[in-house]
Amino acid sequence: MPIKVNLASSDPLSLAVDVLVIGVPEGASTGEGVLARLVEALGESVAHQVKRDDFTGKKDQSVDFTTRGALKPGRVLLLGLGSGKPTDVDVRLLAAKGARFANGVRAESVAVVVPPGVERAERSAAEGLVLGSYRFTRYFTGDRVPKFALARGTVVVEGKPGKAARDAVALGQQVGEAICVARDLVNEPPNEVYPEALARVAAEVGKQHGLKVTVFDKAALIKRGMKLIMAVGQGSAREPRLVHMIYAPPGKPKGKLVFVGKGLTFDSGGLCIKPAPGMEEMKGDMGGAANVIALMAAVAAAKPSVEVHGIIGAAENMPDGAAYRPGDIFGSLDGKTVEIINTDAEGRLVLADCLAYARALKPDLIVDNATLTGACVVALGPTVSGFFSNREDLADRLRGAAKAAGESMWQLPLVDELRDGLKSDWADIKHTADRWGGAITAALFLREFVGDVPWAHVDIAGPSMASKPYGIFSKGGTGHGVLTFLRLIEGFTG
Ligand code: BES
Ligand code: MN
Ligand code: ZN
Repeated sequence: MPIKVNLASSDPLSLAVDVLVIGVPEGASTGEGVLARLVEALGESVAHQVKRDDFTGKKDQSVDFTTRGALKPGRVLLLGLGSGKPTDVDVRLLAAKGARFANGVRAESVAVVVPPGVERAERSAAEGLVLGSYRFTRYFTGDRVPKFALARGTVVVEGKPGKAARDAVALGQQVGEAICVARDLVNEPPNEVYPEALARVAAEVGKQHGLKVTVFDKAALIKRGMKLIMAVGQGSAREPRLVHMIYAPPGKPKGKLVFVGKGLTFDSGGLCIKPAPGMEEMKGDMGGAANVIALMAAVAAAKPSVEVHGIIGAAENMPDGAAYRPGDIFGSLDGKTVEIINTDAEGRLVLADCLAYARALKPDLIVDNATLTGACVVALGPTVSGFFSNREDLADRLRGAAKAAGESMWQLPLVDELRDGLKSDWADIKHTADRWGGAITAALFLREFVGDVPWAHVDIAGPSMASKPYGIFSKGGTGHGVLTFLRLIEGFTG
């Protein structure tokens, strides 16, 4: 059961919770504010500890106290907010760190005090509590089953909160839970989440949230001519799927936005098989698709006034007697023929058919997201997504949305000189080029399939999974990108 978040406006130090989390602005002293009250209630040891830890409220500093019955909260965690006015991103982070700490000390309840005067603070705090308390323990038995679970979260605000604040907390909870759906899907093993299962989850999520969902099975993919998705999936005992989810707003839509996700439920590399070490991580090669499912659930909760489509290309890339080969040539939904060079460059093939499908919807913009290239991780490291766009104004909007959402995304160039590398002697195009600029040539390949629709491609190969928790992100699947896409949608004005 996920944490249930509510809203309160009582004095935080009188809340009966296991952990109370308070953000402290830089330069705080034990002579004033909450620190002074803690010293008064818990004695001089608090002042000593603050001094010993050199806690002054700098960003990322923390100190915690056990109250030993002297106060209602069992423990108090102080987290530095740094200098400058805190934003909703800081509040989300504060709540997430607080919840993670609470999880670590086996707490069942946690309250986070929201710094006053921060826009969207209630929603962000609720999002942070849900995201920070996330764990994936489904496959543990016996001793490994956690004995404690964080069940209650409280967002503490000043003054009497109205309906708007309560609604914001409820929405924050829903957005947080949506992102946890993406995390679960990435963390689930590939024997459980295969293309048909992924499509089933998309259909279930759609049903829960009142979305229209269409699943194209093998026969439908063949009938429609999605030859590249079929090619990638042909070496697997599990059939590929394409999923189309639709959110329609009440009233006339102010635009039509399409989000596409790569859904490789396992990427062995195919005949160009990957080395064994780390291959298990390729269960997460459907992170883009998981993000799209999460995004659609979040959109259904946030109810923006635009039409939003989610497209998922789901397949499993396996070596087999029936697998596709280097040298094979396939047609595509777009009509172009593609020569296969490296069967491990499968994601761009699946996306190519998805993009051609998306383009036919005549949208205002398409954003795809995919765990597409190791090269992108080499370029930007494991915590930053690389993005490309054929329109600078869309790139600016995406950059702005990422900044507002607190997710790291960095624009990379669509270097036209590298397009030559995709020339094929035997077909219209080949799908890989030289080694250099691998993230760029993948994006250039995708560009061939979007026509002149405004489009952005987000390579999430780095941040989609994390080797250890950081910020609001959990170990394993992170859902990195969902908050940015949601911001982009909520800020879309035509
Ligand atoms: N799914 C991988 C990319 C990837 C690598 C994601 C590491 C997450 C972490 C993708 O399908 C792939 O194998 N890409 C190849 C492309 C190459 C064969 C042109 C790569 O990046 O090496
Ligand atoms: Mn691959
Ligand atoms: Zn892949």
